[in-house]
Amino acid sequence: MSKRLEELARLMQNGAQSEWDEYIPPFGRVPMNANLVRRYDGITTAVWYRDGDLQVQLVMIPPWSIIGEHGHSNIDSFEMYIGGDLVFSRDGYWVVEDDDIVPENPTPEGANPRSGNIIRIHPGQLHGGVVGPNGGIFMSIQQWLNGVEPSCVGDDYDGIPVGNDHISNIKISNNLQVIGNGTQEELTWRHAATKETTPPPWIRNTY
Ligand SMILES: [Fe+2]
Repeated sequence: MSKRLEELARLMQNGAQSEWDEYIPPFGRVPMNANLVRRYDGITTAVWYRDGDLQVQLVMIPPWSIIGEHGHSNIDSFEMYIGGDLVFSRDGYWVVEDDDIVPENPTPEGANPRSGNIIRIHPGQLHGGVVGPNGGIFMSIQQWLNGVEPSCVGDDYDGIPVGNDHISNIKISNNLQVIGNGTQEELTWRHAATKETTPPPWIRNTY
């Protein structure tokens, strides 16, 4: 068996078993009997860690998706890029690489240069995203506020929903802005970044 595989398995196992630790963050630990996997309009979320008000969700978005502008009034978060063609917006504008909080160590050769980069999204702060031909994956690192129990980040949602599955699953909302018949087909990159005048690169070449 490969030493590197053994080491990877050891680190993951210790991360899953750990308490808060300077070197190994807790992950892969979830409560019993919790609804951990959701799928809304092709977007899948999986709870990767939950402890009290803290939660980490892996969010997997299929190619050519639009996440319209929205906020989460009861969630304070950091969003960490994993990979794919994913451009976030914040306060109406695309988040560019210079806005990212970068990891301490440089990105390894051959990896997506934004893997491990993080952006801050405050409670209620408007954000959205556009996903290109390779799909997009990120981790949402959350603290749930105001006594609201952690569930799926999409359950606490003000703004433009991702589709009709999503609309029927939203639990907390003060302002839902359904576009047309509510499907992904109604959305363009402009719904994801309402103050922008230029689309992300792959969209510019396609539309
Ligand atoms: Fe969000």
